[in-house]
Amino acid sequence: MRDREINAIRCGLVSLTLSLHQTPVMAIITTTTTTTTLFHLPSNTHKSKAVSSSFLSLPRSQSPSSSLQFRSLVSDSTSISSRRKLNGNLRRVSVIISAAATTEPLTVLVTGAGGRTGQIVYKKLKERSDQFVARGLVRTQESKEKIGGEDEVFIGDIRDSEAIASAVQGIDALVILTSAVPQMKPGFDPSKGGRPEFFFEDGSYPEQVDWLGQKNQIDAAKAAGVKQIVLVGSMGGTNINHPLNSIGNANILVWKRKAEQYLADSGIPYTIIRAGGLQDKEGGIRELVVGKDDELLETEIRTIARADVAEVCVQALQLEEAKFKAIDLASKPEGTGTPTKDFKALFAQVTTRF
Ligand SMILES: NC(=O)c1ccc[n+]([C@@H]2O[C@H](COP(=O)([O-])OP(=O)(O)OC[C@H]3O[C@@H](n4cnc5c(N)ncnc54)[C@H](OP(=O)(O)O)[C@@H]3O)[C@@H](O)[C@H]2O)c1
Repeated sequence: MRDREINAIRCGLVSLTLSLHQTPVMAIITTTTTTTTLFHLPSNTHKSKAVSSSFLSLPRSQSPSSSLQFRSLVSDSTSISSRRKLNGNLRRVSVIISAAATTEPLTVLVTGAGGRTGQIVYKKLKERSDQFVARGLVRTQESKEKIGGEDEVFIGDIRDSEAIASAVQGIDALVILTSAVPQMKPGFDPSKGGRPEFFFEDGSYPEQVDWLGQKNQIDAAKAAGVKQIVLVGSMGGTNINHPLNSIGNANILVWKRKAEQYLADSGIPYTIIRAGGLQDKEGGIRELVVGKDDELLETEIRTIARADVAEVCVQALQLEEAKFKAIDLASKPEGTGTPTKDFKALFAQVTTRF
């Protein structure tokens, strides 16, 4: 394998010198001080994702630095002057690839795109068309119309794997905002006091929607080579006796947590956002607070605007600091604290993988 890699690199260097100003067949570039990356550049490369999805990274142990490796690989076949020329050419290729990487929009599928938070995420992605190509998955034609009815909105039920498969083809990232929704039992009269009772429709229990439906999405995304999944869940999952679990006797937080664990174990870079109580309020005007293990539930900071959750989802798609993390998320009351603008710093506060 190593011989093949070295041969491939040699071939790449040769083709680079021959065809740098045309379309290089292969190039070796330095991405960081810890890895050297070998790219195949298909002749029709115009999307950076085509480049990055085919990379092969050599770990540090094999590649103490790119220049060192470069020397050892080419010293038997190239003169110093041609090495210099190659180094210069490599730098130029690196610049070209970096430029492509920063300009290419990510194709992102939002499931539950007709839901209250899903709609906002979908809209934000559409508004940032220089950074994202937005896709949606909704359950009904009615939901599709509600969010504009455009072609990139797929209709499908997440309990049906086949219905998801077409929606995930070609996407870079997935934002999961589906959820089992409890229905209020008829006959509740608030004027008489008491509490309403809830139920789930047959086949739409949290086990089917929040566990199996989310598992289906994660499996489909993995099969399609998706590079990141953002999953919105809920705080409260550490407490089996949380009141939400008794709604409809359906253990909603238990099944959500099981799906979160499945995602964390999937190997796909993920961001799990466990939101506090959701509010339909304006976003961007409160200080966001992150936590872990439901500790925030012991404080006064337990709610958050759907618009803020949506913004955190979008930011998570762009920041390395968000990957492989699970965060509890809430906000200070409006007028206290400083509205959050630095999402990189927000994610950097989080150290918990689950
Ligand atoms: N409510 C809260 O206070 C709270 C607190 C913390 C966390 N959360 C979590 O935050 C997330 C977003 O909540 P939200 O209130 O914005 O969501 P929501 O409005 O209830 O939307 C849920 C979406 O899931 C879709 N869905 C349900 N079953 C489906 C199925 N079988 N196939 C495809 N789609 C399906 C629904 O589609 P339809 O439009 O067709 O019904 C709906 O669009 C949820 O995971 C929720 O549990 C909520």
